[in-house]
Amino acid sequence: MRDQAEKLRVLARTLKHQVECEIKGTQKKTRIMAVTSGKGGVGKTNFTINFALALISCGQRVIILDADLGLANIDVVLGINPAYNLYHVVKGEKSIHDIIFTGPQGLQIIAGGSGIQELANLRRWQVEQFIAKLEELEGMADILIIDTAAGLSRNVMSFVLAADEVIVITTPEPTAITDAYGLVKAMTAKKKNSIVHLVVNRVENAQEADITASKLSIVAEKFLKMNIGRLGFILDDPAVKKAVKHQEPFILKYPRSPASECIQRLAAQLVDQGHCYEPGGVRAFLGKIAKLFG
Ligand SMILES: Nc1ncnc2c1ncn2[C@@H]1O[C@H](COP(=O)(O)OP(=O)(O)OP(=O)(O)O)[C@@H](O)[C@H]1O
Ligand SMILES: [Mg+2]
Repeated sequence: MRDQAEKLRVLARTLKHQVECEIKGTQKKTRIMAVTSGKGGVGKTNFTINFALALISCGQRVIILDADLGLANIDVVLGINPAYNLYHVVKGEKSIHDIIFTGPQGLQIIAGGSGIQELANLRRWQVEQFIAKLEELEGMADILIIDTAAGLSRNVMSFVLAADEVIVITTPEPTAITDAYGLVKAMTAKKKNSIVHLVVNRVENAQEADITASKLSIVAEKFLKMNIGRLGFILDDPAVKKAVKHQEPFILKYPRSPASECIQRLAAQLVDQGHCYEPGGVRAFLGKIAKLFG
């Protein structure tokens, strides 16, 4: 009941913000968000899909970019099989509209394939052409969420550095916390003023989430002079695994499960925070990506 009321408040605020933008004649820029982790298997892909759906229920238009070349990602968790990806756009074989897959609740999904990596092999004008083709996304989404691989590879770091905001996922496991710290450290070495949100996944209770987040934020503040925002936590919940087996998002299959309620709360909070800053948008993001890969 409380969640429902919170969702309605967020919806009302979002609508008000959209109307204000229209009156001022400004196009609201897309918030670009990279979801990442130090350690693999902590729940990035499941978070990305279910969080995106929760954001849609808060009135946001959302596109997911699957930027992980590894296995068991967005396509597998959703049980879809996109025939084309960004590689085909880079090669000029497809338009961006040809490769967008529409999933449940109007969720839009773009498979990255090896498209972004391919930018390194293009000439300047070809990169410009690619950016121009993707710029259309600006009007299509309020939020673009990028599901990255884990770790500190150049690939992952490029998305993390180019995004407006970074969502770092960890679990309470010591190795996951240490690796998350390593990631944040590598990030701040290259970009001082990153907006970082921490999500602690697979916790037993709120207290465990608090202890985990504190461990990370204390060292980050002390050694990196960096403030890590706490977005919140997701409870460890057997519904997640069950939904993965059915290749359906847990928030749709088990909307009343503890993990679903947690993720709905995180989405409402993130939407609320969005009114406080001006995102760089798609063009700025693509420009940075092209530079980092070029
Ligand atoms: N809140 C949760 N409760 C219970 N199990 C979970 C939860 N979140 C994730 N899992 C389990 O962890 C598995 C791995 O999740 P997921 O594939 O989303 O991780 P990932 O970080 O994307 O992995 P990779 O680094 O390989 O891309 C899921 O299949 C699920 O079984
Ligand atoms: Mg994944």
